[in-house]
Order: sequence, then structure tokens, then C-alpha cells
Amino acid sequence: MALKRPIIFVGPPGAGKGTQARRLAEFYGVPHLSTGEMLRDHVARGTELGQRAKPLMERGELVPDDIVLGIVEERIARADCASSFVFDGFPRTMPQAQTLDEILKRRNFRSPLVVNFKVDHDTLVYRIAGRRTCSIGGEVYNVHERPPKVEGRCDKDGGELIQRSDDRAEVVRDRLAAFDRQTMPLVDYYRSTGDLAEVDGSADVEEVSKRLSEILARHGADGNRA
Ligand code: AP5
Repeated sequence: MALKRPIIFVGPPGAGKGTQARRLAEFYGVPHLSTGEMLRDHVARGTELGQRAKPLMERGELVPDDIVLGIVEERIARADCASSFVFDGFPRTMPQAQTLDEILKRRNFRSPLVVNFKVDHDTLVYRIAGRRTCSIGGEVYNVHERPPKVEGRCDKDGGELIQRSDDRAEVVRDRLAAFDRQTMPLVDYYRSTGDLAEVDGSADVEEVSKRLSEILARHGADGNRA
């Protein structure tokens, strides 16, 4: 089954974008492109780019557009992105969205389907507080909703489960504010282009996946049913 349009997941921190993007990308056999993960990888490797991004990420601020656009452009030029991909956490600003439009046109992709995840504030804070990530493979758990079989260890590779440094309560507050201020305007932009769909992301993971597959089918992104 083929994914017929690039997918963009927009939503506040903790909305479940990464969880669903990973599942969807695996299902369709296309890359999951998380700018957050790409930036954390640069930070972990101590690259020059990572050193510029690190203090901003630790304060819950967005990383400058030129950095993010550089890594995205390089990533989607690779062969595995030739048919389609799922963006998670990108674009996040109007300049990022406008540049992405140009890149997609230049590469002859169809217009993206943008899905806005709607989840109430208390649920976001609860989910983020419970999130733990495998320090080896990056698998994401939740101590409340999706605990590992052995406390503190990844089910897949036994890696230590750690809390992201930007998941501290005071940073989460600033990340939520950055979303409202800088990313919410994108929702109106994509509504105006006709590419926007919305999902209630507050249900459990399986139910949200089901809702997403219905949305993809309705919007001509699902190769089977479009
Ligand atoms: P990024 O890594 O993109 O973080 P985010 O957008 O804040 O999103 P999160 O990863 O917090 O949440 P999510 O929606 O993916 O939720 P998840 O599926 O993990 O960005 C981090 C930083 O990088 C930014 O602050 C910024 O500095 C920088 N950055 C990144 N992209 C950038 C860009 N384009 N421009 C500029 N700067 C950029 O789920 C959360 C938890 O809930 C997990 O524990 C999960 O298991 C659980 N869960 C998920 N779904 C459900 C469900 N349905 N029910 C119950 N629990 C659930």
C-alpha cells in the first residue's frame, strides 16, 4: 500500500505526534522525519549545529529556521524519501511552511495532508510527565499509559529509559507557549490552502490510529482507498 501525499503532523508537545508518526511511517514503509529527533541527535553528537541548538531546546524555544530547514532539505533529498514521508514537528513556523511548499513543488510531490492534533492542556502535561525514552533505540514509553515490562529498561533492547531534559515542568510551560505563539498560525494557513484535517488526539493510541487512517482515506492520502 502506498502513501500518496506527504503527511505533516502538527500539535502541541505531548499530543502524540511522534507515537502516531512512527506507526504510520512503519505501516507505509516510508521515513518518519522528526526534526526534534534529528536535532537531539546533533546535540548528542556534539556537532556545531547541535551546540547552537542545545541551549534553545533546553529553554523550550524553537531552533532558528535556517538550521531546521538545512537538516530537512538534506534529509528529504535522500533516496528513501523519493515516494513520500511523514513529518512530525515540522514545519513549526510560517517561513518553514513556505519553504517546505517550495521544496515539495520543486520535487513534484502532491500537496501535503496536514493533521492538527487536538488534546487538552492537562492531558498534555500528564503525558509528558510520564514519558520515558530508550537511550539506545529511541523507543518511547509512558510510565502511566505504556509502561515497559521491566521498570527503567526498554523492552526491545534493554536500554536505559531516560526522561528528556526538555520534559521538566518549567520547560514544558515554555514549549507550550512557543507552540501557541509560533506554530498555531500554521493551522490557519493550512486551513486556507485546503490541506488541513483535525484529529481528537485525546483517545488511546489505537483509537487515534484508527481515526487517522479514516482521515487519510477521506483526503486521498491512502493508496488503497483514494
Ligand atoms: P519535538 O521533539 O518535536 O517535541 P514536541 O513537538 O514538543 O513534541 P513531543 O515530542 O513532546 O510530543 P509528541 O506530540 O511527539 O508526543 P509523543 O508521541 O512523544 O521538539 C523538541 C524541541 O526541538 C522543540 O522544543 C524545539 O526546540 C526543537 N524543534 C523541533 N522541531 C523544530 C522545528 N521544526 N523548528 C524549530 N525548532 C524545532 O507522546 C507523548 C507521551 O504520551 C509519550 O509518553 C507517549 O507514550 C504518550 N502517548 C502518546 N499518545 C498517547 C495516547 N493516545 N494516549 C496516551 N498516551 C499517549
